[in-house]
Amino acid sequence: MKFETKVIHGGTQEDPYTGAITTPIYQTSTYHQQTLGGHAKYEYTRGENPTRFALESVMAAIENGTDGFAFSSGMAAIHATMSLLKAGDHIVMANDVYGGTFRLVNRILTDLGITFTAVDTADSVALQEAIKPTTKMVYLESPSNPLMHVTDIAEAARIAHDSGAIAVVDNTFASPYNQNPLDLGADVVIHSGTKYLGGHADVLSGFVIVKDAELAERIKFIQMSIGAVLSPQDSYLVQRSIKTLALRVQRHNENAMALAEFLNNHPKVAKVYFPGLPGTPDYEIARRQMRGFGGMMSIELQPGLDVKQFVENLDVFLLAESLGGVESLIEVPAIMTHASIPRDIRLANGIKDELVRISVGIEDIDDLIADMTKGLDAL
Ligand SMILES: Cc1ncc(COP(=O)(O)O)c(C=O)c1O
Repeated sequence: MKFETKVIHGGTQEDPYTGAITTPIYQTSTYHQQTLGGHAKYEYTRGENPTRFALESVMAAIENGTDGFAFSSGMAAIHATMSLLKAGDHIVMANDVYGGTFRLVNRILTDLGITFTAVDTADSVALQEAIKPTTKMVYLESPSNPLMHVTDIAEAARIAHDSGAIAVVDNTFASPYNQNPLDLGADVVIHSGTKYLGGHADVLSGFVIVKDAELAERIKFIQMSIGAVLSPQDSYLVQRSIKTLALRVQRHNENAMALAEFLNNHPKVAKVYFPGLPGTPDYEIARRQMRGFGGMMSIELQPGLDVKQFVENLDVFLLAESLGGVESLIEVPAIMTHASIPRDIRLANGIKDELVRISVGIEDIDDLIADMTKGLDAL
Protein backbone atom coordinates (compact mmCIF):
# COMPACT_ATOMS: atom_id res chain seq x y z
CA MET A 1 0.00 0.00 0.00
CA LYS A 2 1.03 3.61 -0.61
CA PHE A 3 1.38 5.92 2.41
CA GLU A 4 -1.94 7.70 1.81
CA THR A 5 -3.72 4.33 1.92
CA LYS A 6 -1.74 2.94 4.85
CA VAL A 7 -2.75 5.79 7.18
CA ILE A 8 -6.37 4.73 6.62
CA HIS A 9 -6.18 0.97 6.06
CA GLY A 10 -2.75 -0.02 7.49
CA GLY A 11 -2.56 -2.00 10.71
CA THR A 12 -5.61 -3.39 12.46
CA GLN A 13 -8.25 -0.80 11.66
CA GLU A 14 -11.53 -2.72 11.80
CA ASP A 15 -12.89 -3.86 15.16
CA PRO A 16 -12.80 -7.71 15.11
CA TYR A 17 -15.76 -8.02 17.50
CA THR A 18 -18.32 -5.78 15.80
CA GLY A 19 -16.89 -4.79 12.41
CA ALA A 20 -16.98 -1.13 13.47
CA ILE A 21 -14.93 0.83 10.95
CA THR A 22 -13.79 3.27 13.62
CA THR A 23 -11.80 1.58 16.38
CA PRO A 24 -13.92 1.63 19.57
CA ILE A 25 -12.43 3.08 22.74
CA TYR A 26 -11.96 0.04 24.99
CA GLN A 27 -12.14 1.99 28.24
CA THR A 28 -11.29 -0.88 30.54
CA SER A 29 -8.40 -1.56 32.87
CA THR A 30 -8.94 -5.33 33.09
CA TYR A 31 -10.54 -8.25 31.22
CA HIS A 32 -12.65 -11.20 32.37
CA GLN A 33 -10.49 -14.36 32.29
CA GLN A 34 -12.35 -17.49 31.15
CA THR A 35 -9.97 -19.95 32.83
CA LEU A 36 -7.52 -19.66 35.72
CA GLY A 37 -3.99 -19.12 34.41
CA GLY A 38 -5.23 -19.52 30.84
CA HIS A 39 -3.14 -16.60 29.45
CA ALA A 40 -5.85 -14.86 27.47
CA LYS A 41 -4.82 -12.30 24.80
CA TYR A 42 -6.10 -9.45 27.00
CA GLU A 43 -5.43 -9.50 30.75
CA TYR A 44 -4.67 -5.97 31.94
CA THR A 45 -4.57 -2.70 29.99
CA ARG A 46 -1.00 -1.75 30.94
CA GLY A 47 0.00 -4.82 28.93
CA GLU A 48 -2.73 -5.06 26.28
CA ASN A 49 -5.55 -2.85 25.05
CA PRO A 50 -7.32 -3.23 21.68
CA THR A 51 -7.58 0.54 21.04
CA ARG A 52 -3.87 0.99 21.74
CA PHE A 53 -3.01 -2.09 19.65
CA ALA A 54 -4.89 -0.64 16.65
CA LEU A 55 -2.87 2.57 16.90
CA GLU A 56 0.40 0.70 17.44
CA SER A 57 -0.17 -1.41 14.37
CA VAL A 58 -0.86 1.58 12.09
CA MET A 59 2.30 3.24 13.44
CA ALA A 60 4.33 0.12 12.59
CA ALA A 61 2.76 0.16 9.11
CA ILE A 62 3.52 3.81 8.30
CA GLU A 63 7.11 3.58 9.62
CA ASN A 64 7.71 0.32 7.72
CA GLY A 65 8.46 -1.51 10.96
CA THR A 66 7.14 -4.75 12.39
CA ASP A 67 6.10 -3.50 15.83
CA GLY A 68 4.99 -0.17 17.27
CA PHE A 69 4.58 0.80 20.93
CA ALA A 70 2.50 3.73 22.19
CA PHE A 71 3.50 5.75 25.25
CA SER A 72 1.94 8.55 27.26
CA SER A 73 4.38 11.16 25.85
CA GLY A 74 7.38 11.46 23.58
CA MET A 75 9.63 11.60 26.64
CA ALA A 76 8.14 8.32 27.92
CA ALA A 77 8.97 6.74 24.54
CA ILE A 78 12.53 8.10 24.70
CA HIS A 79 12.92 6.90 28.30
CA ALA A 80 11.71 3.42 27.31
CA THR A 81 14.26 3.31 24.48
CA MET A 82 17.07 4.49 26.77
CA SER A 83 16.03 1.73 29.19
CA LEU A 84 17.62 -0.70 26.73
CA LEU A 85 20.92 0.52 28.24
CA LYS A 86 22.58 -0.42 31.52
CA ALA A 87 25.24 1.05 33.82
CA GLY A 88 28.60 1.29 32.02
CA ASP A 89 27.04 1.81 28.58
CA HIS A 90 27.82 4.92 26.51
CA ILE A 91 25.56 6.92 24.16
CA VAL A 92 26.74 9.04 21.26
CA MET A 93 24.06 11.67 20.96
CA ALA A 94 23.42 14.56 18.58
CA ASN A 95 24.49 17.86 20.15
CA ASP A 96 21.26 19.66 19.27
CA VAL A 97 18.64 17.17 20.41
CA TYR A 98 15.38 18.35 21.97
CA GLY A 99 16.14 19.99 25.35
CA GLY A 100 14.07 17.44 27.27
CA THR A 101 16.04 14.56 25.71
CA PHE A 102 19.30 16.24 26.70
CA ARG A 103 17.97 16.72 30.25
CA LEU A 104 16.94 13.06 30.53
CA VAL A 105 20.40 11.87 29.48
CA ASN A 106 22.40 14.57 31.27
CA ARG A 107 20.49 14.66 34.58
CA ILE A 108 18.94 11.22 35.02
CA LEU A 109 20.82 8.59 32.99
CA THR A 110 24.26 9.82 34.07
CA ASP A 111 23.23 9.22 37.72
CA LEU A 112 22.49 5.62 36.73
CA GLY A 113 26.03 5.11 35.40
CA ILE A 114 25.32 5.69 31.70
CA THR A 115 27.71 8.12 30.00
CA PHE A 116 27.30 10.15 26.83
CA THR A 117 29.16 12.20 24.27
CA ALA A 118 27.30 14.92 22.38
CA VAL A 119 28.49 15.49 18.80
CA ASP A 120 27.36 16.93 15.49
CA THR A 121 26.00 13.65 14.06
CA ALA A 122 25.96 15.24 10.58
CA ASP A 123 29.77 15.19 10.75
CA SER A 124 30.58 11.51 10.18
CA VAL A 125 34.22 11.95 11.21
CA ALA A 126 33.20 13.48 14.56
CA LEU A 127 30.58 10.76 14.99
CA GLN A 128 33.11 8.01 14.33
CA GLU A 129 35.63 9.59 16.73
CA ALA A 130 33.04 9.79 19.53
CA ILE A 131 32.44 6.02 19.47
CA LYS A 132 33.97 4.12 22.40
CA PRO A 133 34.21 0.38 23.06
CA THR A 134 31.27 0.81 25.46
CA THR A 135 29.04 2.71 22.98
CA LYS A 136 25.74 0.87 22.71
CA MET A 137 23.55 3.55 21.13
CA VAL A 138 23.86 6.31 18.52
CA TYR A 139 20.94 8.68 19.06
CA LEU A 140 20.00 11.43 16.63
CA GLU A 141 17.26 13.70 15.32
CA SER A 142 17.03 14.63 11.66
CA PRO A 143 16.07 17.33 10.89
CA SER A 144 17.28 18.47 14.29
CA ASN A 145 15.71 20.83 16.75
CA PRO A 146 15.98 23.83 16.40
CA LEU A 147 18.69 24.21 13.73
CA MET A 148 17.17 21.80 11.17
CA HIS A 149 20.50 20.08 10.74
CA VAL A 150 20.21 16.99 8.54
CA THR A 151 22.20 13.85 9.35
CA ASP A 152 22.86 11.17 6.73
CA ILE A 153 20.92 8.45 8.56
CA ALA A 154 22.31 5.57 6.49
CA GLU A 155 25.87 6.68 7.23
CA ALA A 156 25.19 7.17 10.98
CA ALA A 157 23.54 3.73 11.17
CA ARG A 158 26.53 2.16 9.40
CA ILE A 159 28.94 3.76 11.91
CA ALA A 160 26.75 2.56 14.81
CA HIS A 161 26.49 -0.99 13.48
CA ASP A 162 30.22 -1.26 12.73
CA SER A 163 30.86 -0.74 16.45
CA GLY A 164 28.06 -3.01 17.63
CA ALA A 165 25.71 -0.17 18.66
CA ILE A 166 22.11 0.42 17.64
CA ALA A 167 20.99 3.52 15.72
CA VAL A 168 18.00 5.40 17.14
CA VAL A 169 16.32 8.23 15.23
CA ASP A 170 13.81 10.67 16.69
CA ASN A 171 11.69 11.24 13.56
CA THR A 172 9.32 13.74 15.14
CA PHE A 173 10.28 16.74 12.98
CA ALA A 174 10.08 14.92 9.66
CA SER A 175 6.99 12.78 10.42
CA PRO A 176 6.60 9.35 8.80
CA TYR A 177 5.14 10.99 5.69
CA ASN A 178 8.45 12.68 4.88
CA GLN A 179 10.97 10.12 6.15
CA ASN A 180 11.21 6.49 7.25
CA PRO A 181 14.50 5.96 9.15
CA LEU A 182 14.07 2.17 9.43
CA ASP A 183 14.34 2.01 5.61
CA LEU A 184 17.64 3.91 5.87
CA GLY A 185 19.16 1.44 8.34
CA ALA A 186 18.04 2.74 11.74
CA ASP A 187 17.04 0.13 14.33
CA VAL A 188 14.60 2.20 16.38
CA VAL A 189 12.37 5.12 15.39
CA ILE A 190 10.92 7.42 18.03
CA HIS A 191 8.13 9.98 17.75
CA SER A 192 6.67 12.59 19.99
CA GLY A 193 3.15 11.85 18.75
CA THR A 194 2.18 15.11 20.42
CA LYS A 195 3.34 16.83 17.22
CA TYR A 196 2.41 15.87 13.62
CA LEU A 197 0.82 12.51 14.48
CA GLY A 198 -1.71 14.00 16.92
CA GLY A 199 -1.62 17.13 14.78
CA HIS A 200 -4.22 19.22 16.62
CA ALA A 201 -2.36 20.35 19.77
CA ASP A 202 -4.78 18.43 21.99
CA VAL A 203 -3.05 15.20 23.07
CA LEU A 204 0.35 14.02 24.35
CA SER A 205 1.72 10.73 23.04
CA GLY A 206 4.94 8.98 22.11
CA PHE A 207 5.96 6.04 19.92
CA VAL A 208 8.75 3.53 19.51
CA ILE A 209 8.83 1.53 16.28
CA VAL A 210 11.24 -1.32 15.51
CA LYS A 211 11.76 -3.91 12.78
CA ASP A 212 13.55 -6.61 14.75
CA ALA A 213 11.80 -9.31 16.81
CA GLU A 214 14.31 -9.27 19.68
CA LEU A 215 14.20 -5.48 20.06
CA ALA A 216 10.40 -5.62 19.88
CA GLU A 217 10.30 -8.13 22.72
CA ARG A 218 12.61 -5.98 24.86
CA ILE A 219 10.63 -2.76 24.26
CA LYS A 220 7.36 -4.57 24.95
CA PHE A 221 8.78 -5.79 28.27
CA ILE A 222 10.00 -2.27 29.16
CA GLN A 223 6.66 -0.72 28.18
CA MET A 224 4.73 -3.11 30.38
CA SER A 225 7.24 -2.92 33.25
CA ILE A 226 7.64 0.87 33.44
CA GLY A 227 4.00 1.42 32.58
CA ALA A 228 3.88 4.80 30.81
CA VAL A 229 1.38 3.48 28.25
CA LEU A 230 -0.99 5.61 26.17
CA SER A 231 -4.57 5.59 27.47
CA PRO A 232 -7.42 4.15 25.35
CA GLN A 233 -8.99 7.63 24.92
CA ASP A 234 -5.74 9.18 23.74
CA SER A 235 -4.98 6.16 21.53
CA TYR A 236 -8.32 6.76 19.81
CA LEU A 237 -7.58 10.47 19.29
CA VAL A 238 -4.15 9.85 17.76
CA GLN A 239 -5.42 7.08 15.47
CA ARG A 240 -8.18 9.41 14.27
CA SER A 241 -5.58 12.08 13.49
CA ILE A 242 -3.26 9.72 11.64
CA LYS A 243 -5.97 9.15 9.01
CA THR A 244 -5.36 12.73 7.77
CA LEU A 245 -1.58 12.75 8.32
CA ALA A 246 -0.70 12.60 4.61
CA LEU A 247 -3.02 15.48 3.69
CA ARG A 248 -1.86 17.61 6.59
CA VAL A 249 1.86 17.07 6.06
CA GLN A 250 1.56 17.78 2.32
CA ARG A 251 0.16 21.21 3.24
CA HIS A 252 2.75 21.76 6.02
CA ASN A 253 5.47 21.02 3.44
CA GLU A 254 4.03 23.40 0.82
CA ASN A 255 3.44 26.25 3.26
CA ALA A 256 6.88 25.90 4.86
CA MET A 257 8.63 25.92 1.48
CA ALA A 258 6.81 29.10 0.44
CA LEU A 259 7.41 30.80 3.80
CA ALA A 260 11.11 29.85 3.84
CA GLU A 261 11.58 31.39 0.38
CA PHE A 262 9.75 34.54 1.48
CA LEU A 263 11.81 34.93 4.68
CA ASN A 264 15.07 34.11 2.88
CA ASN A 265 14.49 37.12 0.62
CA HIS A 266 13.37 39.47 3.40
CA PRO A 267 15.89 42.24 4.26
CA LYS A 268 15.19 42.02 8.02
CA VAL A 269 15.96 38.30 8.17
CA ALA A 270 19.65 37.42 8.48
CA LYS A 271 19.41 33.62 8.19
CA VAL A 272 16.83 30.92 7.53
CA TYR A 273 17.44 27.35 8.73
CA PHE A 274 15.27 25.12 6.52
CA PRO A 275 16.47 21.95 4.79
CA GLY A 276 14.48 22.75 1.62
CA LEU A 277 16.61 25.77 0.70
CA PRO A 278 19.29 24.73 -1.83
CA GLY A 279 22.97 25.48 -1.37
CA THR A 280 23.67 23.67 1.92
CA PRO A 281 24.89 20.12 2.70
CA ASP A 282 21.64 19.73 4.68
CA TYR A 283 19.64 20.26 1.47
CA GLU A 284 21.62 17.67 -0.50
CA ILE A 285 21.17 14.95 2.16
CA ALA A 286 17.53 15.88 2.79
CA ARG A 287 16.78 15.56 -0.94
CA ARG A 288 18.18 12.03 -0.89
CA GLN A 289 16.56 10.71 2.29
CA MET A 290 13.32 12.69 2.67
CA ARG A 291 10.17 12.82 0.54
CA GLY A 292 9.38 16.38 1.69
CA PHE A 293 11.27 18.98 3.72
CA GLY A 294 8.76 19.28 6.56
CA GLY A 295 7.02 22.19 8.23
CA MET A 296 9.72 23.36 10.67
CA MET A 297 12.22 26.17 10.30
CA SER A 298 14.23 28.61 12.40
CA ILE A 299 15.31 32.14 11.59
CA GLU A 300 17.69 34.81 12.87
CA LEU A 301 16.67 38.43 12.50
CA GLN A 302 19.22 41.06 11.47
CA PRO A 303 21.38 42.09 14.47
CA GLY A 304 19.77 44.70 16.70
CA LEU A 305 16.16 43.85 15.83
CA ASP A 306 13.93 43.08 18.81
CA VAL A 307 12.95 39.39 18.87
CA LYS A 308 10.48 39.91 21.72
CA GLN A 309 8.62 42.64 19.82
CA PHE A 310 8.56 40.45 16.70
CA VAL A 311 7.08 37.29 18.27
CA GLU A 312 4.59 39.20 20.42
CA ASN A 313 3.24 41.26 17.50
CA LEU A 314 2.12 38.40 15.27
CA ASP A 315 -1.58 37.46 15.12
CA VAL A 316 -1.78 34.22 13.13
CA PHE A 317 1.50 32.73 14.41
CA LEU A 318 0.79 31.99 18.07
CA LEU A 319 3.59 32.31 20.65
CA ALA A 320 3.72 28.77 22.07
CA GLU A 321 5.96 25.75 22.59
CA SER A 322 5.35 22.54 20.63
CA LEU A 323 4.95 22.03 16.90
CA GLY A 324 3.31 19.95 14.21
CA GLY A 325 -0.27 21.06 14.81
CA VAL A 326 -2.63 22.57 12.26
CA GLU A 327 -2.02 26.05 13.71
CA SER A 328 1.21 27.97 13.06
CA LEU A 329 3.33 28.50 16.19
CA ILE A 330 6.39 30.61 16.91
CA GLU A 331 8.82 30.46 19.84
CA VAL A 332 12.28 31.46 21.07
CA PRO A 333 14.23 28.26 21.94
CA ALA A 334 16.68 29.98 24.35
CA ILE A 335 13.79 31.09 26.58
CA MET A 336 11.27 28.35 25.87
CA THR A 337 11.95 24.84 24.46
CA HIS A 338 15.72 24.79 25.02
CA ALA A 339 15.91 26.71 28.31
CA SER A 340 16.86 23.48 30.12
CA ILE A 341 20.20 23.36 28.26
CA PRO A 342 22.96 25.31 30.05
CA ARG A 343 23.61 28.58 28.14
CA ASP A 344 27.29 27.88 27.38
CA ILE A 345 26.45 24.46 25.88
CA ARG A 346 23.52 25.93 23.94
CA LEU A 347 25.65 28.72 22.46
CA ALA A 348 28.46 26.31 21.62
CA ASN A 349 25.89 24.29 19.67
CA GLY A 350 24.88 27.33 17.62
CA ILE A 351 21.54 28.03 19.32
CA LYS A 352 21.76 31.80 19.77
CA ASP A 353 19.63 33.78 22.22
CA GLU A 354 17.87 35.50 19.30
CA LEU A 355 17.02 32.35 17.32
CA VAL A 356 13.29 32.08 16.50
CA ARG A 357 11.68 28.69 15.70
CA ILE A 358 8.57 28.44 13.55
CA SER A 359 6.13 25.55 13.17
CA VAL A 360 4.28 26.29 9.94
CA GLY A 361 0.64 25.24 10.11
CA ILE A 362 -1.88 24.45 7.40
CA GLU A 363 -3.58 27.87 7.19
CA ASP A 364 -3.77 29.77 3.89
CA ILE A 365 -0.22 30.72 2.89
CA ASP A 366 -1.31 34.28 1.97
CA ASP A 367 -2.43 34.88 5.56
CA LEU A 368 0.83 33.46 6.92
CA ILE A 369 2.97 35.69 4.70
CA ALA A 370 0.80 38.73 5.46
CA ASP A 371 1.22 38.15 9.22
CA MET A 372 5.02 37.82 8.87
CA THR A 373 5.15 40.93 6.69
CA LYS A 374 3.25 42.90 9.32
CA GLY A 375 5.49 41.61 12.15
CA LEU A 376 8.74 42.33 10.30
CA ASP A 377 7.68 45.73 8.94
CA ALA A 378 6.87 46.89 12.49
CA LEU A 379 10.47 46.31 13.65
C1 LIG B 1 12.01 16.26 18.68
C2 LIG B 1 11.26 16.01 19.95
N1 LIG B 1 11.36 14.81 20.54
C3 LIG B 1 10.70 14.54 21.69
C4 LIG B 1 9.92 15.48 22.31
C5 LIG B 1 9.22 15.14 23.61
O1 LIG B 1 7.89 14.83 23.34
P1 LIG B 1 6.70 15.03 24.42
O2 LIG B 1 6.57 16.50 24.64
O3 LIG B 1 5.51 14.42 23.72
O4 LIG B 1 7.08 14.30 25.63
C6 LIG B 1 9.77 16.74 21.73
C7 LIG B 1 8.93 17.76 22.38
O5 LIG B 1 8.88 18.91 22.01
C8 LIG B 1 10.47 17.01 20.52
O6 LIG B 1 10.39 18.21 19.92
